[in-house]
Amino acid sequence: MLRRAASNIAPSSIGDPHLMELIRQMFYTMRRKGGVGLAAPQVGFSLRLVVVEVKAQSSKSKIAPIPPTVLINPEILSSSEERVNGYEGCLSFPNVRGAVRRYRNSKVKYLDQFGKEHVVEFEGFHARVLQHEIDHLDGVLYTERMDDLESLMTLNEFEKQFGSRVSK
Ligand code: NI
Repeated sequence: MLRRAASNIAPSSIGDPHLMELIRQMFYTMRRKGGVGLAAPQVGFSLRLVVVEVKAQSSKSKIAPIPPTVLINPEILSSSEERVNGYEGCLSFPNVRGAVRRYRNSKVKYLDQFGKEHVVEFEGFHARVLQHEIDHLDGVLYTERMDDLESLMTLNEFEKQFGSRVSK
């Protein structure tokens, strides 16, 4: 499931009780595991569906919150040329972190859970989260995006080196 390209969700399925229940379960799983994003293939559904939520951090954090957001059939329309290196984790591989270069900005088109279309320019950490989650819909894992597998480390090593759990 994790390596397979997921299917689009038919617009007629939006609002379907089964889909709403899946979305609810995805938020539950993501929050319980302390993640900031989750894609449906990670919970066994090969559908182009992502949930994200970045909770408000301490006042020192530069990471702005994202309210609970549902992205149905998300598509990256364009990305900045510039890429930035940053550490990522994945709820499908708990307790591992690795450095991945991601585009600094990405413009994403998606439908919300009510079928309304949005086009949003995500920046920095937010753009990283969206690129990571949309990769899941194409069966791509962050380890495949790493320039150098040498940076792969356990969460313990990561916290010793960087002293924080920021990332996901
Ligand atoms: Ni992931």
